[in-house]
Amino acid sequence: MSFDLVLIGGTGDLAWRKLMPALFQAWRHGSLPAGGRILAVSREPLDSAGYRGWLQQRFNDLEGPTRPSAEAFDGFAALLHYLQVDLSQPEHYRRLQQWIAKPKAEDGRGDGPAGTVVFYLATSPHLFPQICEQLGAVGLNGPEVRVVLEKPLGHDLESARAINRAVGAVFSESQALRIDHYLGKSAVQNLTALRFGNALFEPLWRRESIASIEITLAESLGVGTRGDFYDRTGALRDMVQNHALQLLTMIAMEPPARHEADAIRNEKLKVLQALKPFDAHSARRDVVRGQYRAGVCQGRAVPGYTEEGSVPAHSRCETFVALRTEVRNWRWAGVPFYLRTGKRLAAGSAYIVVNFRAVPHPIFPGPHPANKLVIKLQPEDGLELHLLAAKGASGLETLAPVSLDLDFDKAFLEDRVGAYERLLLEAIHGRLNLFVRSDEQEEAWRWVEPVLQAWREDDAAGLGPRPYAAGSWGPASASALVARDGFSWAEEQ
Ligand code: BG6
Repeated sequence: MSFDLVLIGGTGDLAWRKLMPALFQAWRHGSLPAGGRILAVSREPLDSAGYRGWLQQRFNDLEGPTRPSAEAFDGFAALLHYLQVDLSQPEHYRRLQQWIAKPKAEDGRGDGPAGTVVFYLATSPHLFPQICEQLGAVGLNGPEVRVVLEKPLGHDLESARAINRAVGAVFSESQALRIDHYLGKSAVQNLTALRFGNALFEPLWRRESIASIEITLAESLGVGTRGDFYDRTGALRDMVQNHALQLLTMIAMEPPARHEADAIRNEKLKVLQALKPFDAHSARRDVVRGQYRAGVCQGRAVPGYTEEGSVPAHSRCETFVALRTEVRNWRWAGVPFYLRTGKRLAAGSAYIVVNFRAVPHPIFPGPHPANKLVIKLQPEDGLELHLLAAKGASGLETLAPVSLDLDFDKAFLEDRVGAYERLLLEAIHGRLNLFVRSDEQEEAWRWVEPVLQAWREDDAAGLGPRPYAAGSWGPASASALVARDGFSWAEEQ
């Protein structure tokens, strides 16, 4: 299968930190279809050889398995090409079109039919409308073309709609692939397999058996060099509107009739539509907004958010959000869903906890914790089922907590497929299951809007986010939020 993957924003951070390493891994795993070309595009005055040298240097800055050996890099680099393009110049798109139309034989790849063309827009989203329009103007929007849109897709409902309208004027819905890299994580694939490939949990996956659900996406890192971007974005837009809500839909959705993009996305959309809406009161009662101060994070003294480079000294931007919501349908009525995410927290870990109900009539002396299922997204990828078992000579007198642990890396003994690697391959093959449809994305924006509005009003009234020490689990009010319902976050249990 012949393909051209065109990386617009080819010298940007995302390109060298995530996308190129992911493509390298796909090449190393032998999963890139043969006969493909990768074309990096940017304004930098480079040629293909210069780009390969530049990328090799960047790869040397990477750590761990994504850092290729020199020989491996050379093998991969044979696929890489570069074209200098100024995205603001319409005539430059003609150059791009000519490059793509160039007979494949010139690259020594035979003269097979032109295959799939994937444009990956790793640029600032305000350029998406203009780029799509120009691609359309030079005819680069035929049925063989797909366009991948990297987040953030807008900063509110209106701006997201404007981007979707502009993209939709040139590309059909099935050609526009909105990426949410959390959907590419192996744990999310395993969550789908757990729910819909096994009969065991589905009868329990409902309000009658489940007391609450927790989704925690915790980072120990601060905003680093991204202070400027982050300060215009904040945790609600950066992590909740997309990653956390996507995970919530995967947990709460009804079983789709088929393992197929629209069957899945229809069910996810229904979950988003069933979320309890916020109003001015609940946006304050059920949402905690925090900002880190200086502290000790994983044994190292670190500065507070407003002391980070390019962050204004009086910023009210949130680096932490915890919230309570509900999915208002028959399956989930009354079950609280708690979402929490933040920078500079005590640990860098992401997991979903399904807290089951307590036994209806305890016959053992207690109290004992109820069963829970922990779906671990990172750093490791696994499942933990927490149960109670009889312990010690006195047999059933003593119940102790035990857990069944499943580590997927050990279970399958194969190289882990990274999120971007998986999603890039899905884009090349035109499989849309793991991409977000425009109506899902807009529904998620609609849901967070009242919270953004409440915060704007609070800012105007001089009420900023609540402070928390770097290296903690966020403001104390986040614990109070779950304690109100008689629950606690996983690390407090
Ligand atoms: C990105 C956010 O979408 O996700 C970053 O913009 C965040 O702020 C990152 O750090 C987290 O992704 P991961 O895969 O490292 O958990």
